[in-house]
Amino acid sequence: MLDLKDRIKIQKISTYLLDSSNAIALTGAGISTNSGIPHFRGKGGIWDIYKPEIYGNIEAYQKNPEKFWKMAEKIAPKLFSAKPNPGHYALAELEKMNIIKGIITQNIDQLHHKAGSIIVYEVHGNINHFICLNCKKTYSKKEISKIKKKNLLIPPRCKICQSPLKPSVILFGETLPSFEYFKSKELVAKADILLVAGSSLSVNPIATFPLHTLKNGGKLIIINDEPTYLDDKADIVIINKTEIILPLILEQIKKERFK
Ligand SMILES: NC(=O)c1ccc[n+]([C@@H]2O[C@H](COP(=O)([O-])OP(=O)(O)OC[C@H]3O[C@@H](n4cnc5c(N)ncnc54)[C@H](O)[C@@H]3O)[C@@H](O)[C@H]2O)c1
Ligand SMILES: [Zn+2]
Repeated sequence: MLDLKDRIKIQKISTYLLDSSNAIALTGAGISTNSGIPHFRGKGGIWDIYKPEIYGNIEAYQKNPEKFWKMAEKIAPKLFSAKPNPGHYALAELEKMNIIKGIITQNIDQLHHKAGSIIVYEVHGNINHFICLNCKKTYSKKEISKIKKKNLLIPPRCKICQSPLKPSVILFGETLPSFEYFKSKELVAKADILLVAGSSLSVNPIATFPLHTLKNGGKLIIINDEPTYLDDKADIVIINKTEIILPLILEQIKKERFK
């Protein structure tokens, strides 16, 4: 439910965004829960079923890639068939209106692309690419399907060096892809507004990104259904669902722009 306070905040956010020249969005797993992809932490989170110490870090992966692949194969169909929700579509439309200048996402689900967003930095990788950790050869999803059809081994093996392949999603203990990391760090530092949507802001180094915006005098707006460690420092916080709030911001902006 939306109370009067949230309605006033939505109006304020819309005015800020209309006045901005370099607004950037930073999204996390929360923006995709309405698309049927569970977030990691808390009740109903993926970590409830698949313990991060077993499935979510690179050391565990290297010790037992087969276990990781079996889990990945179970959750992959859900990820590949998921559809964007009104939160993703609202951000895509705000980009088309030249209001949001880019999205930095921790999500691997590609839903921003599916919603039509163009400038998206996937700082934790995505589910459409695979890599050989040994020789660094990369593979597309199509190539992996071919390899798996030819040879039923799980995990599928690298054509060059026969090492097990890994989806190019970032696990705990791995460094982030450097282009995406440095580019996004630059973007948040230059942003006059950083709009955080659906992130617990608890996974480093991305959790510290809003601090770069604040340090340079930019505004911080947080929309998440639970508090984050930066709520006190933010200019506006709405504790609510992104699939409700983002479309309302879009609607308000359209009203103001075309009045
Ligand atoms: N969809 C995905 O691609 C996906 C899913 C799960 C985890 N991850 C990975 O999880 C890591 C954790 O970081 P994170 O901060 O993105 O996720 P997180 O799970 O730490 O936090 C998600 C936050 O969103 C909130 N939330 C859930 N549904 C919401 C909704 N409808 N509206 C508003 N808020 C909502 C949760 O309460 C939580 O605070 C990232 O590394 C990311 O790569 C990605
Ligand atoms: Zn290899």
